[in-house]
Order: sequence, then structure tokens, then C-alpha cells
Amino acid sequence: MDARFAVLASGTGTNLQALLDHPLIGPSIALVVSDKQGTGALGRARSRGVKSVVLEPGQYRAREDFDRALTTLLEDEAIEYVLLAGYMRILGGHTVRAFRDRILNVHPSLLPAFPGGHAVRDALSSGARTTGATVHIVDEEVDHGPVVLQEAVLVLPEDDEASLHRRIQEVEHRLFPRAALLLAEGRLKVEGRRVHVLGDDEGTSAERPG
Ligand code: GRF
Repeated sequence: MDARFAVLASGTGTNLQALLDHPLIGPSIALVVSDKQGTGALGRARSRGVKSVVLEPGQYRAREDFDRALTTLLEDEAIEYVLLAGYMRILGGHTVRAFRDRILNVHPSLLPAFPGGHAVRDALSSGARTTGATVHIVDEEVDHGPVVLQEAVLVLPEDDEASLHRRIQEVEHRLFPRAALLLAEGRLKVEGRRVHVLGDDEGTSAERPG
């Protein structure tokens, strides 16, 4: 596969690792961007020999300047697809427009339930029996764009935030590379809020090309 991916990450980077370990996606990751120094994600990129760049918002006078700098970096690297893997910043409109329908985010809940930065904690404190993981296309609103893949995770009576998040992440590590592959293969067709998976054999939102 000759696609060029950038992965944006702010944290420990376990999702980045799952992407790097995927036989088709891994070799197609051309760039890792972190919004701060010293993240686990940067270490994982370096140990795989993948180019990594730290782009700190604090270095820019205005949000728009940071947004433009990020877009320029991605364009200079000839990036085709962008994967937000625990990127804790809201992506600016300039970047979203430049990569319309070519940016995926992974989120630890069944969106539209529990958007935002405390999805696992919010699911627990709501008393929900089921939560899960979502991969969605990024639009201008936070945790909002059309859903590509979702999978449920049961909330167990003995769960705390850490144990529940761990099980959700196991699902994320499977879903995210799968969604990235579908995107790069041109198999995602976005129609309003629905994403059709072309040639999907699993029968969910199935639609065959031709
Ligand atoms: C993931 O659970 C993801 O859903 C959320 O941030 C977490 C990042 O974890 N957006 P990691 O850095 O990939 O380990």
C-alpha cells in the first residue's frame, strides 16, 4: 500500500503502536506529530525510525497560526490521511478543510454517548451497562463526525476507570487500524452522517461496488 499517513498523538501512544504494528498501515506511517515534548508516542515513533515532529501550540501567537503550521507540515510531507490517536487538541478548521473526510479519530465510548475528554469516567458515573469504542471521521465539531466503526464493551460491576479504559483500548487497537485501512483503500463512502463500507462482507451497512 503506498498511502502516506500522519498520526497525531499527545499521550502514551498505545493506539499509535497498534497502527505501527499493522502489516499494511505500519509501513505507510510517514510522520508522527505530538503537541508536546517527551510523549510516549514520540518514543514509539523514534524506535521505529518514523519521522516525528513536536508542534507546540504555545509557540504560536494565535490558534489559527498553529492550525496553518500543522496543515503546512502535513502538506509538505505529502500526507494523504491523518489519524488522531489520543491527540488531546481540537483540530482547527483549516486542517479539517484541507483533509476533508481523510481524518479519523478514535474515541473511548459509543458516540454520540459520552463525548469529550472524560468519556470513560462519564460512562462509569452514569451507570451505563455498556460503553465501547468508536472510530469516526473528523469534522469541525468535537467527537461528532460520521461513525466508521464501533464496538461495544460491557461495564463490569467491579470496574474502575483504569480497568474499563484498558478493555476499551484493546478494542480500539483492533478497530483503528481496520478503519485506517478501509479509508486508504477508498472503501468509505460518506453520505451525510452515514458511512457506507464498500465491499463489506460482514453485512453491516453493506454495499458492494459496481
Ligand atoms: C484512547 O483511549 C483514545 O480513545 C483517546 O485517548 C486515548 C489515547 O490512548 N482519544 P493512547 O495514547 O493511544 O494509549
